[in-house]
Amino acid sequence: MSIQTANSKSIKQAADVLRAGGLVAMPTETVYGLAANALDGQAVARIFAAKGRPQINPLIVHVTSVEQAMRYVEFDIRAQKYADHFWPGPLTLILKKKQGCGISELVSAGLPTIGLRCPAHPVAQQLLKASDLPLAAPSANASGTISPTAPIHVAESLGDKVDMILSGGNCDVGLESTILDLSGAVPIILRPGTVTAEDLAAVEGITPEIGYGNPGAPTSPGQLLKHYAPNANLRLNAIDVAPDEALLGFGSLKFMGVKGGGFAKDLPDGQVLNLSEGADLYQAASHLFAYLRRLDNAGYKNIAVMNIPDTGLGVAINDRLTRAARK
Ligand code: TXA
Ligand code: MG
Repeated sequence: MSIQTANSKSIKQAADVLRAGGLVAMPTETVYGLAANALDGQAVARIFAAKGRPQINPLIVHVTSVEQAMRYVEFDIRAQKYADHFWPGPLTLILKKKQGCGISELVSAGLPTIGLRCPAHPVAQQLLKASDLPLAAPSANASGTISPTAPIHVAESLGDKVDMILSGGNCDVGLESTILDLSGAVPIILRPGTVTAEDLAAVEGITPEIGYGNPGAPTSPGQLLKHYAPNANLRLNAIDVAPDEALLGFGSLKFMGVKGGGFAKDLPDGQVLNLSEGADLYQAASHLFAYLRRLDNAGYKNIAVMNIPDTGLGVAINDRLTRAARK
């Protein structure tokens, strides 16, 4: 495995690796993806093996345009409207698969649908174009662990199981794409992300259903699994911190006390990380996974997490935190 700065030479090399059935970690605006040729069953099987991912959990296929997506799925007018608004960008559309479309059966794990996403990151776009392939790519981390937002996270999690890591710096968004199921009569959000329910409702005034967070709701197979798990225990909505606990802050720490006396702001450097001092949800999302990793790597057994408002992008942040807190 080698980490290579993305440039025209390394992107061409990565495209060759993909055409030969190999695995390339590529930057996207959300998280790093572990890419393989979606038309090649053996290459796709290597993704599942490298991640230790259950084969019941389908993969997202990355494309460079609506025209390319149309080869693989029934891309109707409704899908076109969402794509017009949000592609390229962090929105995955679940659509009915076209018979004989060539996408490996493994990709959709036996479902009659495929998740399609057109990433906004220039390196992902260049790699898609250079390879001229649809790229199956889940997050480039071992199954069940925290998604990678920097190339070093991929190297730490997957090591030599990936043939090449294309480095494009830190991911701007930091949370995986919103997943919108368009295979039925009513659009259903299967995973919350930066494209919020409000953003989606603004398209043609169709309010999507919420398909995550309550038992019995329709959901992506992957949403049912233990996920984003750090080694540490998370204590959510904390209003104070124990002396031996790490603190993941949000907003002002001025009034945050330490159990038994003292203030969180006076705790040693490294025990307290603030997702966003100015309480900016976008900034918090971009820091979330990297900060959880940092506190985990520092060896804290318990992490207290301050309350994050459950509106807009906060819904997606709380979804990831709730699932990270599950043991
Ligand atoms: O931002 C992202 O979406 C990143 C980057 C790399 O693009 N990818 C990502 O992939 O988060 P992954 O595999 O970690 O999550 C994909 C989710 C899983 O929960 C999976 O169950 C769901 O998408 N999914 C994929 N295909 C599906 C389908 N046909 N129907 C329902 N859910 C699907
Ligand atoms: Mg993942």
